[in-house]
Amino acid sequence: MIRRFTSGKPTVTGAVIRRLPAENTDRFPFAHRFESGCFVFSFPLRKDEIVYGLGEAPRGINKRGWLYRSWCSDDPFHTENKQALYGAHNFLIAGGCGIFIDFPAEIRWDLGYTHADEAVIRLDGEDFDIYLIRGETPRKIVREFRALIGKSYLPPFWGLGYQQSRWSYPNAEAVRNVIRGYEEAGIPLDAVCLDIDYMERYKSFTVSEEAFPDFESFVGEIKAQDLHLVPIIDAGVKKEDGYGVYEEGREKRYFCKNADGSDFEGGVWPGLVGFPDFLRPEVRKWFGEKYRFLTDKGIDGFWNDMNEPAIFYSAAGLKNAMEKAASFNGQELDLSKFFELKDVFARLDNNPDDYAAIRHELDGKLIEHPRVHNLYGASMTRAAGEFFEKEFGPEKILLYSRASCVGAHRYGGIWFGDNASWWSHILLCLKMLPSVNMCGFLYCGADLGGFNDNVTRDLLLRFLALGVFTPLMRNHSALGTRDQECYRFDQPEDFRDIIQVRYRLIPYLYGTLRRAADENDMMFRPLSFDYPDDPIARECETQLMLGEELMIAPVYEQNASGRAVYLPEDMCFIKLSGERVVSKEVLPRGLHYVPVALNEVPLFLKKGKSIPLCRPALRTAQLDTEKTELLSW
Ligand code: GLC
Repeated sequence: MIRRFTSGKPTVTGAVIRRLPAENTDRFPFAHRFESGCFVFSFPLRKDEIVYGLGEAPRGINKRGWLYRSWCSDDPFHTENKQALYGAHNFLIAGGCGIFIDFPAEIRWDLGYTHADEAVIRLDGEDFDIYLIRGETPRKIVREFRALIGKSYLPPFWGLGYQQSRWSYPNAEAVRNVIRGYEEAGIPLDAVCLDIDYMERYKSFTVSEEAFPDFESFVGEIKAQDLHLVPIIDAGVKKEDGYGVYEEGREKRYFCKNADGSDFEGGVWPGLVGFPDFLRPEVRKWFGEKYRFLTDKGIDGFWNDMNEPAIFYSAAGLKNAMEKAASFNGQELDLSKFFELKDVFARLDNNPDDYAAIRHELDGKLIEHPRVHNLYGASMTRAAGEFFEKEFGPEKILLYSRASCVGAHRYGGIWFGDNASWWSHILLCLKMLPSVNMCGFLYCGADLGGFNDNVTRDLLLRFLALGVFTPLMRNHSALGTRDQECYRFDQPEDFRDIIQVRYRLIPYLYGTLRRAADENDMMFRPLSFDYPDDPIARECETQLMLGEELMIAPVYEQNASGRAVYLPEDMCFIKLSGERVVSKEVLPRGLHYVPVALNEVPLFLKKGKSIPLCRPALRTAQLDTEKTELLSW
């Protein structure tokens, strides 16, 4: 049962696909008030109540006890003190029901932080729709919610293959070397991602002639090996005379504006850019068509980036900082002046004043960006997704984005942004999986091995052993970090063993993903969804249920030769490695320590269940998915 409460004139976000009758907020069952232009509501949290939701966010599966913020944020430090990451996924299960806030501006969620037994939620505005969803169980609530927001994006089959990425492979030869490295090590691979250096000076929808001469035949060469190239597309369009995309956008007045109607200019990778006003349907159509430049050359996969939007500086902000520096020049600075100077530069990126300066044109009116901030990246995904759907039909083009909000889940997947090569980020990824699934994002995954900082061989292996199960399985790392391709490490056969397990599981994983999309269900669930009366399972945040058959429990600590695992019922503990089923052992319900070697993938099969395994292959296109053996218990 879903009730919709409406206040004012909500922005049409496109998040929901069903129009429900609206009730007035007078009838809203939680304590609430309108206060200084905000809507605030609160409700008690029962002792022991678990609060689920918020999708891509810091901290645990149980969101209780912290402050969160819905505000798509370009933040490359995913530490515990943060409140927001790239997604704004306004769905929560708390107070005995599902709560979806269809509202594209900032929301603050105090989930038992100020008072342990109270949730206080503040919307920065008075025009919104709030949906309250009742259901017997959290899973049923999720399914009701997901039916409301529509079917999740599904990738082409090859999107389940292993992808190798790096910022950046500088030219075609570097890409060929990566492919050769994988081939020589016998490690499966389906795609190589192209980061910003494939472009001509970071201009979206261009290819550097120097780095990739005759790009089209290069794409052909890659495709002939059953491989795919996945180029990045950045949201901002470089301000440059003679660059067609920019000139067209400027002439058609398709870029976001300042209050005086001039184009807002921000600095990103290419220097100053215009930000396409993706919220307008004609701009989405225009930008979507631009992907044709690459699809015409045979490209069938993309990642959309910097679409929070990330702004390193604005023209106005930089001018102001330079003026401050000039005014201090020659002075002897005391400590406070020194920090004033330092801060004016440190605060240049993603500055609230810059966001406040941006205007969108909606229905002929100029709207302040903060009112609609969380729609920006999602609308870029929609621009691309709608073009792909119209041009190629469903499930043909791979697409994943960094920023997102609910609604974008119908057009593309997400990756979890700039994580780090830290052991704790294996668990951060694990915890996000069920949370983003609740919000509709099924095709998802983290940068395996970690993006920032230097990886170690064992961290990459353990990260991959979780990534074996995530629909998006991509190894990506930042400029300046240690090389992170699997074949570069000692004993690359261990990596082959892990990634081959992925390919053996693809029929199962693809089926599970598809079923989750068709049935508006989750692919990954917290143990507490399945064993609500088991006190240990309820609190378990290091293991997940996958589909109806499996429980997964990756090793997440360095120098550990295994891990402690809790079995909420008798299960068959199986270790897979390469083509081998290394061991199968029925373990009784309870706590166990299970040894797991670096080249093994552990999984736990429920009683009476079985999953198909195919023979591994070097490419998804070469998998024989008809011939499978059953792994059963
Ligand atoms: C952003 C992306 C990252 C990419 C980098 C350069 O930080 O999140 O994945 O490698 O930009 O394009």
